Amino acid sequence: MRLQKYIALCGVASRRKAEELILEGKVKVNDKVIKELGTIIDIEKDRVKVNDKPIKPEKKKVYIMLNKPIGYVTTLKDEKDRRIVTDLIEGVKERIYPVGRLDADTTGLLLLTNDGDITYKLTHPANEIPKRYIAIVEGVPNKIELEKFRKGIKIDGRYTSKAKIKILRRFEDESILDITIYEGRNRQIKKMCEAINHPVKKLKRIAMGELELGGLNIGDWRYLEDEEIEYLKKL
Ligand code: URA
Repeated sequence: MRLQKYIALCGVASRRKAEELILEGKVKVNDKVIKELGTIIDIEKDRVKVNDKPIKPEKKKVYIMLNKPIGYVTTLKDEKDRRIVTDLIEGVKERIYPVGRLDADTTGLLLLTNDGDITYKLTHPANEIPKRYIAIVEGVPNKIELEKFRKGIKIDGRYTSKAKIKILRRFEDESILDITIYEGRNRQIKKMCEAINHPVKKLKRIAMGELELGGLNIGDWRYLEDEEIEYLKKL
């Protein structure tokens, strides 16, 4: 099996992250550092270590949906010592990690799993998984601004791909928007809204692909239903 696939299977990281670990020289096979991607290993005989810790395949895959509250970070460690999302998941012994990221001040749907293949599929930009958000922004975007948003906006020197945006409610000095993006760039929605002069005041993710947050309360989590897992596997 390819080394990066094996690392993902062990639940250590997504396949993409595993490739980074290999390139960074953090992976050893039989105590020798391997930096070549695609190295084939014998999963019965070879001993693989990541950061000098032996790894082995996790048998049971778990898939969890969390309604992330404000103030939690989606990394597994935080240099500023903020709370991390996995602190909210009690009673799950498998080592799980978040699928993609949400900003500390964003709420809503966050998947956590130890299935590196699913993480890879959901986060790879080529798969264009729709991610749907409700945003409260300053002011009310006009037609030109909405059109600009839909066509793609240059952020960090690169155009975003197509996006959907609809005004759900208008108030005097703010509006509620229904936004769907197909990438997962850093602070993407905030930057896009900023670019059309309507900074985000609040942001909540309500769906990822066909998976919906529904009535899950803030801070609560649940295991995915069988049909939801089937959907992920078919991606
Ligand atoms: N876009 C953002 O700006 N922040 C998020 O957390 C998610 C999407």
